[in-house]
Amino acid sequence: MNTMLLPASEENTALAARLLAEGQIVAIPTETVYGIAGSAFDGDAVKKIFAAKGRPQDNPLIVHVDSLERMEQVVAEITPRARKLAEAFWPGPLSMILPRGPKIADEVCAGLNTVAVRMPSDPVARRLVELSGLPFAAPSANRSGSPSPTTAQDVWADMEGRLPLILDGGSCQVGVESTVVSIAGEQPVLLRPGYITKEQLEAALGEEVLLAPSITAQLKEGEVAASPGMKYKHYAPKANVTILQGSFEAFRAYVEGEKEKGVFCLCFEGEESALPVPCVTYGREGHPDEQAHDLFRALRELDERGARQVFARCPEQDGVALAVYNRLLRAAGFQVIQVAEV
Ligand code: TXA
Ligand code: MG
Repeated sequence: MNTMLLPASEENTALAARLLAEGQIVAIPTETVYGIAGSAFDGDAVKKIFAAKGRPQDNPLIVHVDSLERMEQVVAEITPRARKLAEAFWPGPLSMILPRGPKIADEVCAGLNTVAVRMPSDPVARRLVELSGLPFAAPSANRSGSPSPTTAQDVWADMEGRLPLILDGGSCQVGVESTVVSIAGEQPVLLRPGYITKEQLEAALGEEVLLAPSITAQLKEGEVAASPGMKYKHYAPKANVTILQGSFEAFRAYVEGEKEKGVFCLCFEGEESALPVPCVTYGREGHPDEQAHDLFRALRELDERGARQVFARCPEQDGVALAVYNRLLRAAGFQVIQVAEV
């Protein structure tokens, strides 16, 4: 298949909307990461998304809407909690899980009786819904297992020949995928951390939000994931990544003993000059917004530069940094070493 890479103009967004209405899939920018969109009402289109990504069939997709009216076609009911969250955070990088409505293709929910829905703030993503009149299902536009794409060129690297159109809207503002919160059960549960934090959700809902244990811990053999996506190896570059927890001095001393060929550091901006191996940076220390924005591009750059072993500086584990830590932990296959202070 021939893949077109076009700027995300009004005209090209209209082309994408026509393809969507014909049951095709298209890659598009959102404020979080690039997505592969297909009509949420069309099971065959959704199957094409799974095929293009090589995604396991039991991992459900997020449905994107442009209004609460459109959301009514997706969920069973817009509950009071959903209204509070929409009021506080939409349009924006938050997905909520609710009991599903009847119109949604079964393939979107992967056999669950719930559906994830979000209203993106990216104007191209919302325009696509407006022009097509269709809510679209969209996972991140990477091949299953690799880092999510945050530029159209990264989508091209993974998806060229696998779908007809990629819209280029530049670099994604947030850089990590949306926060996923389930409000389908008795208590709200944060399933995937993102730019909207647990504390912000609690303030908007006026109640406690539980943290799914899978955010920072590996699932044990046979354990059932609250969010199916959490059980897969994710965001992994080809290199072996190890997170080193400790001060910069302890990090530097550890790398000094490991500096053979193919070793790279994934460090914070400004630290490169003090390290004895090639470095790729991901934002400044203590600036989780910058870290989120840069992380996936940095992981891809490490592969492009032929890194075999990567030692990564450890982000914080609260607020927006929890999202960064959660993604990096998966990229590292949960390999974390506490380095001795020097
Ligand atoms: O920011 C984002 O959310 C991006 C952009 C394209 O909007 N999309 C995205 O989709 O990250 P994806 O498919 O890569 O991640 C969807 C996550 C998975 O972890 C999946 O298991 C979870 O949401 N999920 C979807 N529906 C669910 C459901 N009904 N119950 C539990 N988890 C669900
Ligand atoms: Mg993904």
